[in-house]
Amino acid sequence: MAVLEILEVPHPGLRAVAKPVAVVDDSVRKIVADMFDTMYDARGIGLAATQVAIEQRIVVIDLQETVGEGEDAKAVRTPLVYINPELISVSDETNFYSEGCLSIPEQYAEVERPAACRARWLDEQGEAHEGDFDGLLATALQHEIDHLNGVLFIDHISKLKRDMLLKKLTKMRKAA
Ligand code: NI
Repeated sequence: MAVLEILEVPHPGLRAVAKPVAVVDDSVRKIVADMFDTMYDARGIGLAATQVAIEQRIVVIDLQETVGEGEDAKAVRTPLVYINPELISVSDETNFYSEGCLSIPEQYAEVERPAACRARWLDEQGEAHEGDFDGLLATALQHEIDHLNGVLFIDHISKLKRDMLLKKLTKMRKAA
């Protein structure tokens, strides 16, 4: 188990464009395992390799959705791996989610994105897949693919909102 350091804004590494994974081998599977350790440790639902200073196109997601109600409610882990993920198409219909990011701690903003998308990717064995995404998973996948291209969720909001959010982050860091 290895928990990696997560880069935070304004680290320039977050603006790097990651390179495609050439061969899905044990070294890639080790990165995937470390990324899950890091994401669960930070209580996140998604992580892109660029956030841990690895410039390869690797994404892990686990929405850890709650199953059951009341005392029986518990978050169930469903780890998902996307290597070299690519959007094939996106819906015209959009929706808004209050997005956060482990690289922009404790800051949230409503981001508008296509409500659904179709993507292709490789799994941990190097097998190719194609599939349709909607709901929170579509949002999470688009957010993480953005990271691989050096794009952050704050790039999707107005400059006014972005400046306010970054100011709050600076204040929070000073208080810590
Ligand atoms: Ni993020």
